[in-house]
Amino acid sequence: MTPESPPEDDSPRPLAVRLEEYTAGLYAPEDDVLRDLRAEAGRRGMPEIYVSADEGNLLQLLVRMISARRVLEIGTLGGYSAIWMARGLPAGGRLVTLEIEPEHAQVARMFAERAGLGDVIDVRLGAALDILPALTDEEPFDICFIDADKVAYPDYLDWALRLVRPGGLILGDNAHREGRVLEDPPGDDATRAMQEFNRRMATDPRLHATIVPVRDGLGVALVLAPSEG
Ligand code: SAH
Ligand code: DHB
Ligand code: MG
Repeated sequence: MTPESPPEDDSPRPLAVRLEEYTAGLYAPEDDVLRDLRAEAGRRGMPEIYVSADEGNLLQLLVRMISARRVLEIGTLGGYSAIWMARGLPAGGRLVTLEIEPEHAQVARMFAERAGLGDVIDVRLGAALDILPALTDEEPFDICFIDADKVAYPDYLDWALRLVRPGGLILGDNAHREGRVLEDPPGDDATRAMQEFNRRMATDPRLHATIVPVRDGLGVALVLAPSEG
């Protein structure tokens, strides 16, 4: 460190960032597929809003902890979080992921293939609220990871409660909305929706939940059996 370098920033955020890097460095190294995916998404000008590596590893760990075989994701982007989760599935496992933007879906399919997960990751193109009703005809899911348009989170929670089996997990990214969930009154519709989502995760008797303060906050709820409620 040179004498001219600025003093160590002692505000909580930089420390949080450094600790995130420490955790990711230890537990969540990216391979070439994940690195290339981020580079390709960047070249195409896709938004850089995928989960962080340490959050991806946490998602994969949750998949493995409950021996999930069927995962539903709402909001694919380039397939970054999908690949992290799919890598936690056993042979024969499936991850269905919903995406409204054709280019995002195309990139996700391309990288799922490159990751050797072309038969595991099933990208379905369309508005999630149009696709979700048809999923009630399929086997129940073990996990639903919600990460699409924030205003629809309360609706996605309703669907997740229908589609995820007891003992499964409902996960919601961006539960902190960069701190905006503290606003009273909420400053925009997305913040209002996230507050409602978090309140319902906290109070629905069918759920036992918390927010894990990884990256932008990950809501994690266990779906209880009726007898546990
Ligand atoms: N889970 C991804 C990031 C998702 S970003 C990852 O971590 O890698 C949110 C995605 O949701 C975007 O690709 C956006 O196009 C998509 N999306 C937004 N509204 C949607 C909708 N109504 N239905 C389906 N996908 C939607
Ligand atoms: C945004 C959306 C996300 O899902 C995310 O993880 C980060 C940012 C956004 O819309 O700004
Ligand atoms: Mg997100």
